Amino acid sequence: MELYDTIFKRKSIRKYSRGKLSKELLEKINKIVKNTDRLYNDINMQVHMIEDGESIGKIISGIIGSYGKIKAPHYLLVSSEEKEGYLENIGYTLEYVVLQLTKMGIATCWIGGQMKKKLVKDIIKLEKGQLPILLISFGYPEEKEVLLRNPEKIKRKDLSEIVVGDIDETWTKILNAARYAPSAVNSQPWRFIVDNEQNAIHACVIRRKNIITKHFLEKTNMIDIGIALRHIDIAAKYFSKDIEFKKIEFNKDKNYIYITSIVEKNSLE
Ligand SMILES: Cc1cc2nc3c(=O)[nH]c(=O)nc-3n(C[C@H](O)[C@H](O)[C@H](O)COP(=O)(O)O)c2cc1C
Repeated sequence: MELYDTIFKRKSIRKYSRGKLSKELLEKINKIVKNTDRLYNDINMQVHMIEDGESIGKIISGIIGSYGKIKAPHYLLVSSEEKEGYLENIGYTLEYVVLQLTKMGIATCWIGGQMKKKLVKDIIKLEKGQLPILLISFGYPEEKEVLLRNPEKIKRKDLSEIVVGDIDETWTKILNAARYAPSAVNSQPWRFIVDNEQNAIHACVIRRKNIITKHFLEKTNMIDIGIALRHIDIAAKYFSKDIEFKKIEFNKDKNYIYITSIVEKNSLE
């Protein structure tokens, strides 16, 4: 299975078999984490492998909230310095790892929510300035769970609801990959504004006005857009489009928070 195909077939798995992955596999995953490119290289983000999933049980119950408890044999705990773009950077980087794990037949679930810093300290020592941000559970799925989904059965918004403007066939395929991205409570906050004048597509997230959704989703939605940008990057490569992400000036809409723009390399020169 190509990495591109995992975008459409991966689903969150919350029930795991108790069996641990082999040392070799855990090492391989550590290597993938280490070699994965990032959205922003100037942000100090760290990924900590928690081999003994049992040890994380007590911080899990504190952070899961309405989602219910997830018990996995292993976790990745992601920490970062708090700097502009740090959440998108996490989404972008870790989604690559998640899709690679899917390709290896390993189940995953992003676990956001409020992490209790105090309890994290009992499990790992974070460097000064590093904030614990989220967990990714992983392992083999429980016997009754199926690792992959039928892409036709996915619950996602229509492309017309997330893209503003007209795009050609290839860009339709590329943005369709973003449409499949996982997001916190499946909130799908990403919007893509087509700018024909500048040959760019501006990636944004919807601005939350409701005080409750703002409180719960504003930050996590930044991780979500990072995940969607990774899907775009993988799909663009698959369709041989040489793209880059860069911030450019345009007439912004106050309903959206601007993140970055997708441009074909050299098209702005
Ligand atoms: C940033 C982020 C945080 C998430 N947090 C949780 C969580 O705390 N608990 C949980 O069960 N699922 C969590 N999820 C999984 C989403 O609920 C799931 O991706 C979404 O409902 C779409 O389902 P799918 O991944 O199976 O396509 C999270 C997903 C993302 C991207």
